[in-house]
Amino acid sequence: MLIGLVKEIKNHEYRVGLTPNCVSEYVSAGHRVIFEKGAGVGAGFEDDAYIKVGGEPVDAPEDVWQAAEMIVKVKEPIQSEYKYLRDGLILYTYLHLAADKPLTDALVASRTAGIAYETITDEAGGLPCLVPMSEIAGRMSVAQGAKYIEKTYGGMGVLLSGVPGVKKADVMIIGGGTVGMEACKIAIGLGANVTIMDINTKRLAYLDDLFGSRIQTLYSTPSNIREGLGRADVVVGAVLIPGRKAPHLVRKDDLSLMQKGSVLVDVAVDQGGCFETTHATTHQEPTFIVDGVVHYCVANMPGAVARTATIALTNTTIRLGLELAGKGVKEAIRENTNLRAGVNTYDGNITCKGVADAFNYNYVDIGRLI
Ligand SMILES: NC(=O)c1ccc[n+]([C@@H]2O[C@H](COP(=O)([O-])OP(=O)(O)OC[C@H]3O[C@@H](n4cnc5c(N)ncnc54)[C@H](O)[C@@H]3O)[C@@H](O)[C@H]2O)c1
Repeated sequence: MLIGLVKEIKNHEYRVGLTPNCVSEYVSAGHRVIFEKGAGVGAGFEDDAYIKVGGEPVDAPEDVWQAAEMIVKVKEPIQSEYKYLRDGLILYTYLHLAADKPLTDALVASRTAGIAYETITDEAGGLPCLVPMSEIAGRMSVAQGAKYIEKTYGGMGVLLSGVPGVKKADVMIIGGGTVGMEACKIAIGLGANVTIMDINTKRLAYLDDLFGSRIQTLYSTPSNIREGLGRADVVVGAVLIPGRKAPHLVRKDDLSLMQKGSVLVDVAVDQGGCFETTHATTHQEPTFIVDGVVHYCVANMPGAVARTATIALTNTTIRLGLELAGKGVKEAIRENTNLRAGVNTYDGNITCKGVADAFNYNYVDIGRLI
């Protein structure tokens, strides 16, 4: 199959859909890979690295889009790329269609096979292509809290680890899933006092087994949260209720309980945020202050570590990408139910129930089309 790699053109997106290692795997499997010159530079992969493993450089993105049978990307196409969508094209990327009606319409109208990383499943029913980004955001969250609590950024001027004779900082993590657990590891590593809350008691038991006496686990209730806010130097919001907006677990009034210069890091901002005062920020201007409390609410945290994020993402997408290339889309999704779960649009139909429901469109079971 002819695989195409294009440069991401969404604002400040530096990740890329294939590393040179991935290209090497496709080429070894007998496929051809054409890539837009400069596609990987933002993630630290120069053109030469792709050429060395058999990638074929192309000047113009439209030439890649038009020639390739499968385009491997990171982010959903933006408006200026819709013209490249066409019947017979496989688009393998994050799509997040339930939040994007124009793109859904464009994929359906063009009859593109849209395979969305975010709905691909694994044997345990998890969403393997979302996990690495949560791992990254979780690890970054405490590092960002440690930075923005510095005086120059409006923080209270505290070192999370303390020093001999000076108290360690208190880090409170609300939500003990992937983001929360990774945040916990970094907070422990920095030597902070860590409290982690969740409403899933099995998860709390797991975290307790894993981290033992190095952390305090607490059932997440409004009163436990409010009590914790009074002590916390850094609070990480890491909750998720699948398919729903994040609940507001910290209200604006609650900020008065907090110390001036403490920091709220709302990782759940991409689901609306779990603090009432959250609004999405960017890497250019990551923070704002409300009632003396610093808020960090960057919606695409992994974008700041494009190289790590690219490698982590492609580690989870390469195997299924090779299956698509090797068998063709129809055969690959017929044989692999996890990959089938990733098919959001096919042959002019919406084949993901969540997307169809979001726009009141007709849902067609992919099983009927293959
Ligand atoms: N900002 C970013 O760049 C970025 C990157 C990756 C993920 N995220 C977001 O981070 C959030 C967390 O993702 P995740 O992968 O850890 O999800 P996850 O499903 O692994 O974990 C979420 C946890 O929240 C818990 N929870 C639900 N309601 C709660 C409540 N009221 N109090 C306490 N805990 C509660 C759940 O029991 C679960 O353990 C999601 O909204 C995700 O989209 C953001």
